[in-house]
Amino acid sequence: MTDTTAGTVRKPDNDEHLFDIMYSCRAMRRLKPDPIPESLLLQLVDAALQGPSGSNAQNWHFIIVRDPEQKLRLAKVWQQTWDFYLQTFARADARPGEDLAARERMIGAGTYMVEHMAEVPAIIFVAVKRDQQLAKVLSSPSTLAALIRHFGLGGAARLMMGSTRTNALAEGSTAYPAVQNLLLAARALGLGTVLTTPHFFVPGAFEAILGAPSDVTIAAALPIGYPKGNFGPTKRPAAERVVSWDRF
Ligand SMILES: Cc1cc2nc3c(=O)[nH]c(=O)nc-3n(C[C@H](O)[C@H](O)[C@H](O)COP(=O)(O)O)c2cc1C
Repeated sequence: MTDTTAGTVRKPDNDEHLFDIMYSCRAMRRLKPDPIPESLLLQLVDAALQGPSGSNAQNWHFIIVRDPEQKLRLAKVWQQTWDFYLQTFARADARPGEDLAARERMIGAGTYMVEHMAEVPAIIFVAVKRDQQLAKVLSSPSTLAALIRHFGLGGAARLMMGSTRTNALAEGSTAYPAVQNLLLAARALGLGTVLTTPHFFVPGAFEAILGAPSDVTIAAALPIGYPKGNFGPTKRPAAERVVSWDRF
């Protein structure tokens, strides 16, 4: 729920236009080890918090890792997941229209990032806490009755059978708008980062290192630092190519 305690973070001034920031917010994987002031890290979290959340639960949590030993522990598991990625997903056949040279560049930068993970000044884990109030409603018999009343027996059964997927989507729907706000804020403040999900491959491993309780779902890991390279234009398809009007 909203905690209205006044914090110390204020909205920063910024002269750059939103669309200039958005269209140059590339994945930045080569990062300098220079430390980032704590106030700046909090600024990023504050920007993330301006995102929407399901039922306005505002149930985000951010684990910011700066401790060298924690980073070493994370880097070790991260390397395992990256090695797996290199031997599998990285070798997938080219997608229609995919630029394989761009994939190779991404793999090179990803390898650099994972090998230098312990030197990155901070890694921000964006997590979502289970909404206890909603969980209580969902498990109550009166909710089941309401489901049947509103959607019929078949509809209720379909909803319950798909509940694992729906829950995952619901958690992601709350987490990723915050993540995107954070990516844009970092870009606006001259910090480089990239949305990563190595924890998907090793359920429980990152959570154990971070001491995340079982009612907390980690959605993304964002290594963050001042970039070695330049922000640059993103490469994306033309909008017309990915739109269908009125029906798929
Ligand atoms: C769901 C998701 C998972 C991702 N996981 C990783 C990851 O584990 N490691 C990584 O280096 N990049 C990861 N990325 C970043 C993508 O590779 C990146 O957004 C994409 O290559 C586009 O890069 P660009 O913005 O520089 O064009 C992920 C992105 C998304 C949306």
